[in-house]
Amino acid sequence: MVSRVIPVDPFDLVIFGGTGDLARRKILPGLFRRFRAGTMPEESRIIGSARSEHDDAEYRQIVRDAIGEFGGDEKEDKAGIDAFVERLHYVRVDAKGDDGWKELAGMMRDGIIRAFYFSVGPSLFGDIAERLNRFDVADDKSRIVVEKPFGRDLQSAKELNATLRSHFREDQIYRIDHYLGKETVQNLMAIRFGNVLFEPLWNNHYIDHIQITVAETVGVGGRGAYYDKSGAMRDMVQNHLMQLLCLIAMEAPSQFDADAVRDEKLKVIRALQPVDYHHLVRGQYDAEGDQPSYREDAEDPRSFTESFIALRCHIANWRWAGVPFYLRTGKKLKARSSEIAVVFQDLGHSIFEGDEKRHRNILAIRLQPNEGIDLQVTIKEPGPGGMRLIDVPLDMTFADALGPEAEDVPDAYERLIMDVFRGNQTLFMRGDEVEAAWAWTDPIIAGWEARGDVPKLYEPGTAGPDDSAMLLHRDNRRWRDIKA
Ligand code: BG6
Repeated sequence: MVSRVIPVDPFDLVIFGGTGDLARRKILPGLFRRFRAGTMPEESRIIGSARSEHDDAEYRQIVRDAIGEFGGDEKEDKAGIDAFVERLHYVRVDAKGDDGWKELAGMMRDGIIRAFYFSVGPSLFGDIAERLNRFDVADDKSRIVVEKPFGRDLQSAKELNATLRSHFREDQIYRIDHYLGKETVQNLMAIRFGNVLFEPLWNNHYIDHIQITVAETVGVGGRGAYYDKSGAMRDMVQNHLMQLLCLIAMEAPSQFDADAVRDEKLKVIRALQPVDYHHLVRGQYDAEGDQPSYREDAEDPRSFTESFIALRCHIANWRWAGVPFYLRTGKKLKARSSEIAVVFQDLGHSIFEGDEKRHRNILAIRLQPNEGIDLQVTIKEPGPGGMRLIDVPLDMTFADALGPEAEDVPDAYERLIMDVFRGNQTLFMRGDEVEAAWAWTDPIIAGWEARGDVPKLYEPGTAGPDDSAMLLHRDNRRWRDIKA
């Protein structure tokens, strides 16, 4: 199979927060993998930057250790690591002062793409953005990369956008939602817009409802302090699940380019209706054996923050009127499994006498793990004795169908960082998208806060609180099983 990989021009990537957790866990090991794959052009450099004092040699050792700790099989490639760290440099800067900025500016090279990764808390975004321009570190073609959380409500997101836009143009700002960098998430667009089969049925005439599940087995231990101020709605729904919903529900863009795709996603978010509190379930995991409860992990015995959420929402447009979208995500559930299931309507009339079972076509797109698609179809049960029907999966696991190439794909961060150098914003969130997502989220959160709702406890290793199952039972539907 010959694949066409779009080349990357030489770049200088400056990582603010270059010794921090995200840089060590994801960004640097990801860049090393791209280096090994040959997609990091010869002259490119990575410049770590933080408040602590280090020289290049010390920084290179920090990165070696990070690859050793967080890398995959590639961490055995000692010669590769030696060659990679040669590309690394370190400059100490003070994000709130003047130290280090002139030195950083002196390192920049004409004609080489400059990208600045803000792997720091949002309270520093403005300070760094302002200094990048004041000290002429950035040029007109520079790009900045920012991470979630992008605000905690509409107001704070607007302020962040205004701050960044006072120093950089929108086409220079790359807001990461790492879900958009996942291979199978992009496959959603390929499946929908690269096949004739599905799109004619992709509407309220044929689809009964859609389920989006992002289930995790991990708890919030270790990051309880951050998480407790956030909760599943802000941490997962406002961004990751929202992006999945957009890709499933949007109209076909006229072409696959950044603004065409993002315009269509924005229309979906703006068409989302408010969520009625009857269609919302929040949960918190309980203790089990010697495993702590959510409240113990969050170190707040009175915390009302949700580690699980399920909700029903509607998109008010011609394509989707009347089709419920059920979203759920949670920690400490029975399996790590993310899936989108498009459940088609029942047959209007069955010609098979005695066949009373409800047969439904279901297109399930497995995002992780075990990426693939599975189309449930109805066939005749083999054997004599009449026409009995059974439902079977037409299952395609990408790793089986595509072989080793399916396993050797860049992870979300690698792909997204390379897209920054390519100048391709298709898989990044535009400022107006983020604001629209908060505009939908804010009243839902304000509603439960005003009512003083207490999340329902659920047992770890289950599918969440019983009320979540009820959410669908009331509509005569049921969640798909959460299984890896
Ligand atoms: C992050 C959330 O954005 O996504 C985490 O802050 C969550 O709480 C993580 O665990 C899930 O990402 P993935 O790629 O493991 O599905």
